[in-house]
Amino acid sequence: MSPLAIILWFTFGGLFIATATVFILLPSRYEKPLTTPGGASVSVQILVLGDIGRSPRMQYHALSIARHGGTVHLIGYDESPPHPDLLASPNVTIHGLALPPKILRSSSIPFVISGPLKVLWQNPPSIPTLIISFLVSVLRNTQLMIDWHNYGWTILSGTKGASHPFVSLSKAYEIALAQTAPSANITVTHAMRHELRGAPYNIQSPIVTLHDRPASIFQPLSSVSERRAFLTALPATAPFAASVLEGKTKLIVSSTSWTPDEDFSLLLDALVSYAKTPSHAPIAAIITGKGPQKASYEAKIQALREANQLPGIQIQTAWLSIADYAALLRSADLGVCLHKSSSGVDLPMKVVDMFGSGLPVAAYSAYASFDELVKDGVNGCGFETAEELAALLARLFGGEHGAEELAALRRGAREESGLRWDEEWDRVLGRVFGFTE
Ligand SMILES: *[C@@H]1O[C@H](CO)[C@@H](O)[C@H](O)[C@H]1NC(C)=O
Ligand SMILES: *[C@@H]1O[C@H](CO)[C@@H](O)[C@H](O)[C@H]1NC(C)=O
Repeated sequence: MSPLAIILWFTFGGLFIATATVFILLPSRYEKPLTTPGGASVSVQILVLGDIGRSPRMQYHALSIARHGGTVHLIGYDESPPHPDLLASPNVTIHGLALPPKILRSSSIPFVISGPLKVLWQNPPSIPTLIISFLVSVLRNTQLMIDWHNYGWTILSGTKGASHPFVSLSKAYEIALAQTAPSANITVTHAMRHELRGAPYNIQSPIVTLHDRPASIFQPLSSVSERRAFLTALPATAPFAASVLEGKTKLIVSSTSWTPDEDFSLLLDALVSYAKTPSHAPIAAIITGKGPQKASYEAKIQALREANQLPGIQIQTAWLSIADYAALLRSADLGVCLHKSSSGVDLPMKVVDMFGSGLPVAAYSAYASFDELVKDGVNGCGFETAEELAALLARLFGGEHGAEELAALRRGAREESGLRWDEEWDRVLGRVFGFTE
């Protein structure tokens, strides 16, 4: 029996994969079959459309398959450090892809010129990786699974405008392949599954929903001394650690990929508005993540600071290791999530990680799948505008019952923290991969 190789294909917009390399890698790797309890030999190639280290869901898939004894080849850009367990696992091989030439990544050349070149060199964002994976899966008689996390075309539409010809092209292409690919069947939310069932996708094959769950590295705080040790040691928090520990300064954390999918100005405007009331508690905001719009927002923050628009507010940007990020989440007072779903039906993984850390969230809420994750008033609060976010911060950090409400939300988040990735994966996908009966 030929090994059952399954290619998980992850659609994540704006990030590119070099197809020339995919072509060479995929067909040549046959593994010695491994026997699993179900009797199947499982070898999985996971194709990440982007930086492996910044694709938690794909890394967790890899870890789950490896944990059951499957062989995993993880293919994608090798920019940020991958999850340490992946590096340590004998069952996982990481194949880093060369980044596309700088000239194609720069935004200085018009998309009309760079777009077609990108199609040849790589993709915006699923062309032609998906068709190549499909062809390879046919040639090798393997299954192709697509983990729908978002649609490439909606993200493209966000950056290029809905009427751009590339958007309709990319939409038609994704729909055609969604229907042809034999096993297009994992989604991240029920709302997305529902959407894939209907027009224009009309996917007929079974679709399962695998909700994101936090990995084990995200854990609630175990003690006050742990918080003290971490906050005083981390350069980004050390300057105001004492005040945070006393409860005077409120520590908020937001992680962003600094893309148009997340409107960072929402948080910035909210902080400016919050700071107008001098009696409000001081806030320290740590913004983690890397991305295209980071430098321009840093300049904006600097300008606001110089114009004295942010009294009592400290904003620090930082890029942290996964261990430090996890420690920061469990040490913070509130997580802020600005994710604006371009598809309307995906969910931000960062909120899942915040819950894993027992951290309540304030999250942008104007999309269909929002309440599959955040229960408003139980483990977090939704907002739609900067004014609403400012009011929320004022209420939780100072209002008459603010401390009480925040403590209740924290209990809700801790409760959510009990639901973990491993159990969810085994329940939903263990059987699909043949690991469990
Ligand atoms: C790797 O696979 C073997 C079975 O071949 C399994 O016993 C082991 O636990 C796996 N290791 C990891 C780190 O997942
Ligand atoms: C995915 O779709 C294929 C083809 O329709 C099917 O054989 C497979 O059982 C489906 N997987 C799940 C998890 O439903």
